[in-house]
Amino acid sequence: MATTETGTGTGAQALGPGSDEDDAARTPNTPETARRVASLNRNEKVFHVVLAQQFDRQAIEQLCRTADMIRAIGHAREGAQFLRTLLSHRRAMLYFIQPSTRTFLSFTAACQVVGMPYNEVRDRSTSSEVKGESEDDTIRVLSQYFDLIIMRHPGEGFAEHVAHLLNDMPRTIPVINGGSGKDQHPTQALLDIYTLSRSFAAAPRPGGGDSKRGSERKVAGRYSPDLFVGKTIAFVGDLQRGRTVRSLAYLLCRYPGVRLLFVSPPELQIGEDILEYLRRYDISYETSDDLRSHIGDCDAVYMTRLQDEWDVAGESKKIDYDRFSLSEDMAKQFKPNMAILHPLPRRHELDQRLDVLPQAKYWDQVRNGMWMRAALIATIFNSDVAIRDHYHDHYTF
Ligand code: NCD
Repeated sequence: MATTETGTGTGAQALGPGSDEDDAARTPNTPETARRVASLNRNEKVFHVVLAQQFDRQAIEQLCRTADMIRAIGHAREGAQFLRTLLSHRRAMLYFIQPSTRTFLSFTAACQVVGMPYNEVRDRSTSSEVKGESEDDTIRVLSQYFDLIIMRHPGEGFAEHVAHLLNDMPRTIPVINGGSGKDQHPTQALLDIYTLSRSFAAAPRPGGGDSKRGSERKVAGRYSPDLFVGKTIAFVGDLQRGRTVRSLAYLLCRYPGVRLLFVSPPELQIGEDILEYLRRYDISYETSDDLRSHIGDCDAVYMTRLQDEWDVAGESKKIDYDRFSLSEDMAKQFKPNMAILHPLPRRHELDQRLDVLPQAKYWDQVRNGMWMRAALIATIFNSDVAIRDHYHDHYTF
């Protein structure tokens, strides 16, 4: 039996899709969030990448376009060589002291795409922290050797703390949050939005035309304002402790007209802070514990695993997670253009037999992560302009 609750906003001024006004103007951000965002940005542009709330619609779409341009340019040898010149004079540190496969490797691949040499610390036992050095001092030291810190850390808020610490150093370098505790994973959310946008744009639309491969119109036209309007996106699984879900929900607030569905065991429901944020942005949502009854309505479904590493006393062992799994027998209910996403790693909540379906977008998601992270790094260092110029010189007919 489904437990359902709906929300449709609290009267924040909603601008229609396609409005030219910056969505920051309609922003119902609390003064506290606005203050946090301001301390992470420089000249109203993202500098440290810590919170998904830092990205407005325009910034997200610009990143998606840059990612598209990078993948097009990098296709040919000369293009890939051009990209590798962009940041060959900068160095990155990947400070990943929590397990990671994809995020770590996709950041290393992204650094390679833009020619940025990198180094890594993945195990605290190899650092001077075992001699009693504080983590703050480790970060201060890193800031003297490198031009960018990309980090994953088990502590909620630690990436934000690092940003403030770096702001106080004479040499301030940016930090990118590659996952902070149960809290946020903004770069995963960016690659998720990129994957959703590409997937929705690829679906046939009434009268929707297209353009030659590689043309400027193709890249620019992909992000039309109505792409998410009327779309139902379901988040399924451990929504309480999944940081990717939280960050993506924040980003989706920038897409008026989208409808969100949170399907989870009652004890693992999405946080009230996220629901409050959705109401501030007039995003309609529903919560439920019944995946089967909703699956046929979904335009995208975002599956997640049980995050039992955060259990205090094995409490999630009691949960019947099979009810929050996507199984092969549900496929007949899928809309033909539905997109299945998963941040990975997966367990049994996403049946491997679904991998062959056209709806399976999780391998695309992995690859999109590399392009999106390359776009993000390039943008932080203002190399997005050179990418745009190169693209227009070589790919505009
Ligand atoms: C996620 C993470 O680490 O938050 N994975 C990822 O970065 N792609 C999801 C997870 O661990 O379940």
